Order: sequence, then structure tokens, then C-alpha cells
Amino acid sequence: MTDVQASTAPSLTVRDNRTGQEYELPITDGTIKAADLGKIRADDDEPGLAVYDPGFVNTASCRSAVTYIDGDKGILEYRGYPIEQLAEKSTFLEVAYLLIYGQLPDKTQYDEWVHHITYHTFVHENVRSFMQGFRYDAHPMGMLMASVGALSTFYPESRDISDMHNREIQIIRMIAKMPTLGAWAFRHAQGKPYIYPDNDLSYTANFLSMLFKMSEQKYDADERLVKALDVLFILHADHEQNCSTNAVRSVGSSQVDPYSAVAAGIAALFGPLHGGANEAVLRMLRRIGSLENVPAFIDGVKAGNERLMGFGHRVYKNYDPRAKIIKKATEDVFEVTGVNPLLKIAQELEKIALEDDYFVSRRLYPNVDFYSGLIYEALQFPPEMFTVLFAIGRTPGWLSQWLELTEDKEQKIARPKQIYTGDRSLTFTPREERWA
Ligand SMILES: CC(C)(COP(=O)(O)OP(=O)(O)OC[C@H]1O[C@@H](n2cnc3c(N)ncnc32)[C@H](O)[C@@H]1OP(=O)(O)O)[C@@H](O)C(=O)NCCC(=O)NCCS
Repeated sequence: MTDVQASTAPSLTVRDNRTGQEYELPITDGTIKAADLGKIRADDDEPGLAVYDPGFVNTASCRSAVTYIDGDKGILEYRGYPIEQLAEKSTFLEVAYLLIYGQLPDKTQYDEWVHHITYHTFVHENVRSFMQGFRYDAHPMGMLMASVGALSTFYPESRDISDMHNREIQIIRMIAKMPTLGAWAFRHAQGKPYIYPDNDLSYTANFLSMLFKMSEQKYDADERLVKALDVLFILHADHEQNCSTNAVRSVGSSQVDPYSAVAAGIAALFGPLHGGANEAVLRMLRRIGSLENVPAFIDGVKAGNERLMGFGHRVYKNYDPRAKIIKKATEDVFEVTGVNPLLKIAQELEKIALEDDYFVSRRLYPNVDFYSGLIYEALQFPPEMFTVLFAIGRTPGWLSQWLELTEDKEQKIARPKQIYTGDRSLTFTPREERWA
């Protein structure tokens, strides 16, 4: 870094009041490089200036061409395509292709992709054996996380992440096998036999078959339910640098195999602050119980006693574009399953909140979780399965971000700095002396 020089390129001038020195930091893509700040020192023995940013709320950790979000305008795009168009006109597997390869497939590419995914849905029989070894009441998300991690032992060649062809095979395997593992985790908790994949069915219809098939020859899911679940997978497919994606990238930056990196993403998603909000919405709706209790509940929220779950978002401050699409999917699902009585309460809450100044002034709108729990419940999923469904949908997103990471020359092993707050230079006294 040098003293301030006249320049027309966008830059930030920083004056270090400890030394009186001024610095000019280049601004690129609306960011300054943290490493440039590191060159600012009070004296040569001091460490350079660093940024303190718990939770990375204002730190870009990568360049990414996968997903674009404009929270103020309520925009979500995968590879430049608006989520509304993808949800309406595409399929989950086509969206997965788009996320992974960066462009829409032509017919041959699409057919090959669907074929590959379909024919990799089976897992090694030993996977089945070890899944059966879980306790009868094992949480399906814990089972999914462990099984995805375990896949790295079945495919040791996956550790060679420098080979594009090899990376591609692991990506296909993982997208293909997630529904199998997720469905088996579900069946396990119910004490029901695991159902093998049916390669005649579409990705999502096959998933429903593995979840719900009993003694019938072929499971024939209602097309409207298949479509609704497919749309939900599309809506969850990526969301730029969220907690679980950051976990995948952070663990992946050690150049570990992709199964281990995605297992880390599943672990992050397991946490209630990430994947668990739709379950909280259901609990809230049940507690409210009936329409006449809604005004009192809203008053309680406005008094600060509790939050209206499924409302508000860290990024979306206008509306969550996914919530509108889910609302429509909810109606389609209820056409088949019958209306969940909690829907009326949800609609009333939404109606009041969208007109009430408390919510309007704080820019609180329904988020993706406000309606998704209702759909999942109508499809007979227990709440523990909600995050498993999220994980299946998010897998192409995790993998496309992982792929981008492996090809990004600027990336390094993730290793943040810290501000040390502990003791220094203590002298160790042996136990006999300390305890004497
Ligand atoms: C998602 C969420 C964590 C985002 O939080 P955030 O961006 O950090 O926003 P803040 O917590 O700073 O809230 C800003 C203001 O809105 C209020 N607020 C935020 N979400 C609220 C909600 N769901 N119900 C009632 N009030 C809410 C806060 O109390 C705060 O009010 P104040 O300024 O009077 O103190 C938050 O909106 C929330 O808890 N929502 C409910 C949980 C949920 O649906 N999560 C799923 C997210 S996909």
C-alpha cells in the first residue's frame, strides 16, 4: 500500500489516526480486499488491521456465478433465471443441471443427465445394513448426515477432486442417492421395510414411492403432489452463501471429498436456526388453534412477547419470492389431500400482518417457511423429515458451489482470524505443586 495517489479507479481513502498515514484501497465489485487492510499497521511489530465480522454479515467469502439475490427487490435467480419461471416451467433435475453446469441442457444433455441420475439411485447393500443399525427412533437427519458421509468410504476415488470427470460422477451419485437415503431414514423411524428405487419413475415420483409404497406392485403418486414436491425442491435448490453452503465450502476448502463436504452442509442445515423454522410455524399455528385466537396472538407478537414464525428474513426485506410460489403449491396440494385446518389460521395471520403497521414498517413478509410446513404435513411427513426434504432439494446447490470452489484459483483453505482474549505467557506449575 502506498500513500494516496490521484486515481480515477473506484477506491476508498482510509486515514489511520494512530499514525496519520493515509491509504487508498481499490474498490472492486463493491468490496475492498481484507488483505489490503492487513497492510495497514501502527508499526512494523504490530499485526495488520483486520476485520471483525462474527457470522460474516458483511464479508464476501467468494466470487460466485450460481445464485443472485436482491433482498430489497425480492429477486432470486439461479444462473440468471428468475425462480418464478424455473418453478413454473422447469423440473428439479433440469434446475439441478442448470446449477451444476451453468446453462440449460439441450435435449440430448437433458436425457443423458436424467438417465444418469435415475440409474445411480441404488446404493450399495452395505449402506442398507448400516442404516438398519441405527436406533429405532434415530432422527432421519442424523441418519442422512451419517450415510452421506459414509458414501465417501464406498467411493474412495472421490478424493481425487482434481479430475473433472471424477467430480462429475460423484455429483451424479450424490444427487441420485439423496432421495434413497432420505426415504430410508423415514422408513426406518416407522419400522417399515426400505423400498428400492423404481427406475421407471421420475426423480420426485420415485422419492414418493420409496417413502410411501407398501404392498402394491407400483406406487402411483398423484401428479399434482409430484409437481408440488418438485417445485419445493426447486425453491430450495440454492440460496447463495447461507450457513450450510458456507459449511460445504469451508470444509471443501480443505480439498476433502464431496461426500464429506456435503455431510458438513447437512450438519449445518440440521440446526434449528437454519432448517427448522417451518416446524416452528406448525407449532405456532397449532398453539393458536382457531381463527378467533388470531388477534390476541398478533397483539402478543406486537407487544414483543414472541415472534410471528415464518415472517421476516435476514435478506428479503420486500417479500420472499419463494413464499408466493409455495402459497400456490399449497393450494394444489390441498386439492388432493383436503384442506389442513391450520391453513385458515395461516391465511388470517398473513392477511392481518400484511396490513398491520408493526409488520409493514419492519418490512416483515411471509418467508419460504410460512407455508412449506403445511404442505409437508399434508403430504404426511413428520416434522423431523422437513429438513431432510430441504437437504435433498439443496444438494445440487451445495454441489454447484463446491464445484465452483474447486475451480476457483483465488480460493484458499478457510482459516479465519481471531481476536485473542485469553491469558498470555503463564508459567506452568506441575500438579503436585498446585495441589499441595
Ligand atoms: C428471520 C429473522 C431471524 C431475521 O431476523 P433479522 O433480519 O436479524 O431481523 P431482526 O431480528 O433484527 O428484527 C428486526 C425487527 O423486526 C422484528 N421482527 C423480526 N422478525 C419478526 C417476526 N417474525 N415477528 C415479529 N417481529 C419480528 C424484531 O423484533 C425487530 O423489531 P424491533 O426493531 O422493534 O426490535 C427474523 O425475522 C425471525 O426471527 N423470523 C421468524 C423465524 C423464521 O421465520 N425464520 C425463517 C427464516 S427463512
